[in-house]
Amino acid sequence: MTFEFIIVEPEYKKHIALIRLNRPDALNALNLQLMGELRDALKELDDNDEVRVIVLTGNEKAFAAGADIKQMADKNAIDMLKIDQFTTWDQIKKTKKPLIAAVSGFALGGGCELAMTCDMIVASESAKFGQPEIKIGVMPGAGGTQRLTKAMGKALAMEMILTGNFIDAEKALQHGLINRIAPVELYLDEAIKLATEIALQSPLATQMAKEAIVKSFDLGISEGVLFERKNYYLLFAGQDQKEGMNAFIEKRKPDFKGN
Ligand code: CAA
Repeated sequence: MTFEFIIVEPEYKKHIALIRLNRPDALNALNLQLMGELRDALKELDDNDEVRVIVLTGNEKAFAAGADIKQMADKNAIDMLKIDQFTTWDQIKKTKKPLIAAVSGFALGGGCELAMTCDMIVASESAKFGQPEIKIGVMPGAGGTQRLTKAMGKALAMEMILTGNFIDAEKALQHGLINRIAPVELYLDEAIKLATEIALQSPLATQMAKEAIVKSFDLGISEGVLFERKNYYLLFAGQDQKEGMNAFIEKRKPDFKGN
């Protein structure tokens, strides 16, 4: 898998793939090509049975400083409708495997939205999260108004989106936006540690559980509970459920195969 703006390592660690955003000169600004590459890489990794968890990262200075302002500055509304850049993001949201963002430095605008599209976020102490679109005369367009509000509550989301101010990793942790903080030199290791723990579980069960949690954003509680129940029953069709339960009864560690 060779791309221009991302680097993909399908076997970074056993069952863990790593994708690095790689436009350092532009603080990993998310242009259309980069997002297309990311969509294609995620689809391939989703189809690769060896991969159980995917970690998405940038570099120490920036996870991503947002959508590429230079690429869209001269566009009109019809251009934007025709390009319809966010359909690519919709595909990314459909990734079945757990996706962990390892964030250092700037996660701004589309960069913050991309991190929030992932299932979990591990941040370095230097991480800065923000939706500064208001400062360039627009507003979040890739889910920021919805996901930031759901993650952190109305008051803080409203303040961040209407002022464009950034928050640091500590505040992001306090308010439920991220899972863990690590020193800058260790944040990727920490994300891999989390991925490793998840990769030991049944891949079927992790995907079904992720799907049900993601549904909770779209469904009311009763429909969500019914959706969860169907996925739960369905897991009894696979071998991992037998392996997991028998291993418990036989007092040994399970060996999940994803079938
Ligand atoms: N788009 C295009 N280029 C960008 C960029 C972006 N979002 N962010 C940074 N860059 C480029 C800069 O233009 C600069 O390029 P040149 O060297 O060619 O001038 C390079 O990256 C380095 O950036 P700075 O010199 O600005 O670095 P800094 O350390 O002084 O400042 C920063 C860092 C505060 C993040 C600043 O770059 C910045 O404010 N970036 C824009 C942040 C932003 O507004 N993001 C939202 C974009 S809109 C969006 O994302 C919509 C959506 O919902 C999807």
